[in-house]
Amino acid sequence: MAYRTWLEINESLGAHVSKKKFSDVPEHVAIVMDGNGRWANARGLTRVEGHRAGEAALMDVIEGAIKAGVKYLTVFAFSTENWKRSPDEVKFLMNYNREVLRRRRDQLNGWDVKIRWAGRRPKLWPSVIDELLTAEKLTAKNTGLVFTMCVNYGSRIEMLDAVNQIVEDTGNGKIKGKVTEKTFQKYLLTKNLPDVDLFIRSSGEQRISNFLLWQSAYAEFVFLDVLWPDFDREHLWGAIEQYSKRNRRFGGAVDKPKKAKRSG
Ligand code: FPP
Repeated sequence: MAYRTWLEINESLGAHVSKKKFSDVPEHVAIVMDGNGRWANARGLTRVEGHRAGEAALMDVIEGAIKAGVKYLTVFAFSTENWKRSPDEVKFLMNYNREVLRRRRDQLNGWDVKIRWAGRRPKLWPSVIDELLTAEKLTAKNTGLVFTMCVNYGSRIEMLDAVNQIVEDTGNGKIKGKVTEKTFQKYLLTKNLPDVDLFIRSSGEQRISNFLLWQSAYAEFVFLDVLWPDFDREHLWGAIEQYSKRNRRFGGAVDKPKKAKRSG
């Protein structure tokens, strides 16, 4: 590592330590980074150029999440349905996920970010899996933001995989008695993540698109009419502002609820 002075180290840390204050900060934010293709088309560019422009937005949002005090940030980078795209776009996205991880992992490590992967192995390029596991290993001991990249992720198949494994584990005696929500959650790809508090989708579309269905059962939704490459920390903070004004009841009924307790 190159030699850095005490001042330089503190300056670089300072950039990420200073906090943005909100009355209520969601612990777990999930984002569907939508609109790269439309952003590119509007400029006469190719779709892949839109994805390239999405990288800077993502880095800014990660920094914004750290400053806001978000503990978990989970993004939809490639879905189990994205294999339906043209072979060229799929190839680009596979290469790009690998490239972004390789290029950004040291920077994220320097920000104390813990990188995690949530996704299925079948079909996913082994070189992408290797890169995801390398980034996980490199950042495993970090205690800052937990940044989960959902690559080859889809909620329905995630739940079906869980059901099939539960059936197997019931048969072999690993599970005894009834399956509870807690047990089911442990079989999901996101087993180490808490429920989603704030679910954001960019681009003006108002859909969940098979992202974190179980995990978002009581999430607050914010749909922003901004294409992903134009998205930045200010949009994230705007969504957190909206979130902090919502009344979350988790199915309960309270006269003046501000911070209701989760009750299922
Ligand atoms: C959805 O926009 C976006 C994706 C399928 C890929 C997301 C990738 C990035 C934001 C690039 C940088 C990040 C990583 C993690 C590599 P779309 O293609 O569906 O856009 P459209 O709806 O306008 O067609």
